[in-house]
Amino acid sequence: SDEVKVVGRAPIVTIMGHVDHGKTSLLDYIRKTRVAAGEAGGITQHIGAYQVRTDHGAVTFLDTPGHAAFTAMRARGAEVTDIVIVVVAADDGVMPQTKEAIEHARAANVPIIVALNKIDKNEANPDRVMQELATLNVVPEEWGGDVQFLKVSAKTGVGIDDLIEALIVQAEVLELTAPKEGVASGVCIESRLDKGRGAVATVLIQKGTLNKGDFVLCGHEYGRIRAMFDENAHAIKTAGPSTPVEILGLSGTPDAGDELLVVQNERVARELAAHREERKKSSRHAAMGASKLDDVFS
Ligand code: GTP
Ligand code: NA
Ligand code: MG
Repeated sequence: SDEVKVVGRAPIVTIMGHVDHGKTSLLDYIRKTRVAAGEAGGITQHIGAYQVRTDHGAVTFLDTPGHAAFTAMRARGAEVTDIVIVVVAADDGVMPQTKEAIEHARAANVPIIVALNKIDKNEANPDRVMQELATLNVVPEEWGGDVQFLKVSAKTGVGIDDLIEALIVQAEVLELTAPKEGVASGVCIESRLDKGRGAVATVLIQKGTLNKGDFVLCGHEYGRIRAMFDENAHAIKTAGPSTPVEILGLSGTPDAGDELLVVQNERVARELAAHREERKKSSRHAAMGASKLDDVFS
């Protein structure tokens, strides 16, 4: 039947904002305080995607250093974000990448929550920043607008519980669902070459369930998933919607924003990867950004 059973899924929240306004610090603080004791393995090592559990369910966070991933994802039409947190340092105010973040969120039609960060600093002037944002049509609820603003400090932790609550409230409004059964699809968040383990890619699952042993295609890379890890570096065998996972077994390092697809077998994966490589070469002059599955199969 073409009835696909969908289930509720965790909101995927991307943290954006100007350089040094505290995106990573905010993520690190949330992670450090929300990850259960005994799971401290990966805390010192920064990773670009992870999930935390709250009393009202899980939330998946993505960091976007330099906006590269988000921009790449948008260029490929793969909208992975449900909510954007725009971080603005309250001692610095609206800067070029703040505006860019707002534009990204609007173009993707994704709701914004503003985190006025560094509220612990003497120089912090949240009212001024609120005014600056209001002139960009990002108007706080308390001024009659529709955007939640939270005053936070990634240093002291002030306001961060409220920020998470605001996320949960926003997510409930969105009623997010995805098919849980069936072959997985997702998107690469980041990747690297590890001396011992080879290509390591962090992938966010969007639909279906990814299994250890699946044959996958991701951008121009392919392979069989040899091992899979959660954000605490625990080996796992399956991963469902909204889950970030590290996968081993790809032929190389895919780019942020590359789609991950499960395919029948290694031969199909290799052929599709080669096909994509050819297309890339032959259409470099053409102004086509996407390499969607439809294109590959056409
Ligand atoms: P990029 O990824 O380089 O764009 O920066 P970022 O937005 O991730 O900022 P990051 O978390 O690296 O923080 C930049 C600097 O601000 C660091 O020195 C942090 O320690 C500091 N910082 C971040 N948040 C706070 C805060 O709430 N209060 C204070 N006092 N300092 C903060
Ligand atoms: Na920084
Ligand atoms: Mg950062």
